[in-house]
Amino acid sequence: MSTTTFSPSAAFQETAVASPALFDAARSDYEGFWADQARRLLTWEKDFTEVLDWSDAPVARWFADGTLNACVNAVDRHVDSGHGERIALHFEPESGEAESYTYAQLKDLVCQVANALVELGVQTGDRVAIYLPMGVPAVVSMLACARIGAPHSVVFGGFSADALRSRIEDAGARLVITSDGQYRGGKTLPLKSAVDAALADADIEDVRVLVHRRTGMDVAFQEGRDIWWHDIVPAQSTSHDAVVVEAEHPLFILYTSGTTGKPKGVVHTTGGYLTQAAFTHLNVFDVHPESDVYWCTADVGWITGHTYVTYGPLVNGVTQVLYEGTPATPHKGRWWEIVEKYGVTILYTAPTAIRTCMKWGPQFPREYDLTSLRVLGTVGEPINPEAWLWYYREIGGERCPIVDTWWQTETGAIMISPLPGLTTLKPGSAQQPLPGVDVRIVDTLGDPIEDETPGLLVVATPWPSMLRGIWGDPERFAETYWSRFDGLYFAGDGARFDEDGDIWLLGRVDDVMNVSGHRLSTAEIESALVAHDAVAEAAVVGASDDTTGQAVVAFVILREAYVEQADEEGEGGDLVAALREHVRSEIGPIAKPRDILIVPELPKTRSGKIMRRLLRDVAEHREVGDVTTLADSSVMDLISKGLGS
Ligand code: WTA
Repeated sequence: MSTTTFSPSAAFQETAVASPALFDAARSDYEGFWADQARRLLTWEKDFTEVLDWSDAPVARWFADGTLNACVNAVDRHVDSGHGERIALHFEPESGEAESYTYAQLKDLVCQVANALVELGVQTGDRVAIYLPMGVPAVVSMLACARIGAPHSVVFGGFSADALRSRIEDAGARLVITSDGQYRGGKTLPLKSAVDAALADADIEDVRVLVHRRTGMDVAFQEGRDIWWHDIVPAQSTSHDAVVVEAEHPLFILYTSGTTGKPKGVVHTTGGYLTQAAFTHLNVFDVHPESDVYWCTADVGWITGHTYVTYGPLVNGVTQVLYEGTPATPHKGRWWEIVEKYGVTILYTAPTAIRTCMKWGPQFPREYDLTSLRVLGTVGEPINPEAWLWYYREIGGERCPIVDTWWQTETGAIMISPLPGLTTLKPGSAQQPLPGVDVRIVDTLGDPIEDETPGLLVVATPWPSMLRGIWGDPERFAETYWSRFDGLYFAGDGARFDEDGDIWLLGRVDDVMNVSGHRLSTAEIESALVAHDAVAEAAVVGASDDTTGQAVVAFVILREAYVEQADEEGEGGDLVAALREHVRSEIGPIAKPRDILIVPELPKTRSGKIMRRLLRDVAEHREVGDVTTLADSSVMDLISKGLGS
């Protein structure tokens, strides 16, 4: 294979944070290596004596008898060590005035919010749902929860009222922090109204709602339940004694799509998570906190926003940019304008965003001075070599290493990535497991593959930031990740080594789709569709898409009463539009199918399992593959005929 590679520049090698010694240390004493990182990168209230306890596998305990507070690590200790005047956050709104907060100012605000939470009756261990747009209140709310030991459950502001309700219910949240509305893509969108709808028929009592005023739009207010942020937060004291918790105290729950209809509440705890968040942020992005300006474009509603906006960067004491809006608002050079304005040195984004910018053309970034950039990162899906090279040339000026980082909500932090200054880069490959991470590729029997045969990605040894479970469902945790292969964590991704031993990710091997780097489950969208009156049965597949990586394509069998209506309307008809809208309101705009195809039958095996492989062939306009295992092989003819292809 003749892949072009890029060796690290001599200048970079000299100043690189990561060193080959890290790999040696992790290899020779794996637990000792992580213990060193935990002590070096974090401030512990009480040091730990035990590193890893795997006796209760698959639930790991890391640094279990140590105690600490996550917020103190992210904020207070930088003030205490004399860096209070360093900027922590530059907030860049979609439009309007930018704001900057030093670490000292951030500490004051976080303490005020922590005191407000206490006044609202939130206690250590209570869950708090955060449904806020990207911005300072979101980050501060997460930190304030961490400060009082109340696990947060951030729900992406693009999720619908229904999705929010099920997350509030599942976690048993006592408080929801939200805002009146949000600015997005040049529009002002409501947010609080979704909380009202979610709580209207939620199966829980005594939930309070704390409302930040972002847009000034009118909102309904329920006396006794709702309270304005500006009526309670500014009046609080700027000092608050952080609640010291054990290392295994849950820091947050984050819901993510799996292979069944119900999203899973992935649980992360404090000490191990923060250790690996800080370690990976520092080494993968080559962070020099005194001089870098870091920008991760992810929303805090996703794991990337948790680990690489809120926790990793702040624990490392870096200055970062938070951006509220979309890349094209009000113009297609907006991101590059921000890079120039703040002198961003490290940029972390998703391949889908790079492909979109590529489509718009290089004239937009070329209008701005991007020479401050030093390191570029990507996450969320495989990056195709063409997009990698565009990023490298047009954004990085052929100067900046690109780190293609593989990880998951469940892994909590980056697991596979090149290291700037160390790794010879190979476009399209995530390359090497990080020090202290034991990734392998196995065949369907769980036997290791060492040649270039494609296989399944597994992790063979516990790692500090691994999920500790699924909220309220230990069986599902064991079943989902640990039942396929004895003692191995099954990630759900296909992968293979190349001849140099570098890892190439091959996409999900289960029924999870990846649309614009966002995880969606086929089952979740199918259950939304069948909840509509018109739908008898539905099958959803992820079809490849040039910009979004995958796109949602739904095959739908209608109930008798609706068949005639659909026949008359044809493909662009009201019914199809209504179904797309229905998915949007059940889950959120990101789940809205790109195509909905009305079909008379679905291809099923004799045991009744839908053969998505065949539907994917149809959705991607390919010749349909092997149909011999279908219960009725004429079904595919019917589907193709029905579609007029
Ligand atoms: C995919 C996002 C290829 C993968 C942090 C994984 C990737 C899922 C990469 C997790 C990458 C993430 N190359 N595929 N660099 N990064 N993925 O939980 O399929 O939203 O299982 O976490 O995204 O998505 P999640």
